[in-house]
Amino acid sequence: MRILMVCLGNICRSPLAEGILQSKVNTAIKVDSAGTAAYHVGELPDKRSIAVAKKYGIDLTNQRARKFTVKYFDTFDLIYAMDESNYQNILALSRDKDDEQKVSMILNEVHPSSNEDVPDPYYGGNDGFENVYQMLDEACTIIADKIK
Ligand code: 4NP
Repeated sequence: MRILMVCLGNICRSPLAEGILQSKVNTAIKVDSAGTAAYHVGELPDKRSIAVAKKYGIDLTNQRARKFTVKYFDTFDLIYAMDESNYQNILALSRDKDDEQKVSMILNEVHPSSNEDVPDPYYGGNDGFENVYQMLDEACTIIADKIK
């Protein structure tokens, strides 16, 4: 089982989602992340994501930002988008129904069919990162229970 978390920059939300889900499942399950934009490719996660994860015992410093490309439809079984815009950008690259069916909005695991966004915390303060952490922790607990 391979799971990909996707946001815009791959420095704030999806690195947290990757770290949180990986901490809840065994290492046979591969969790990774990517961004739909290339602005931050090669960079470490945002300092604020690293800090909030560290507070809960999760290390994000082995991660480097990557851009989502169509090949990820072949290498992952499930693809979780953090928000509606990421979801549309991923779907725009899908080639067929198999690709499309891999993609969902991560908070639909918590509130099915509600299509709620994980808010982009990039331009806000530390509170936004704590809020995102809690939302993703709740969603990842549900995902981990389903797949393990
Ligand atoms: P992320 O947050 O999509 O959660 O990684 C963002 C990071 C960078 C930018 C926007 C959102 N940016 O515009 O550079």
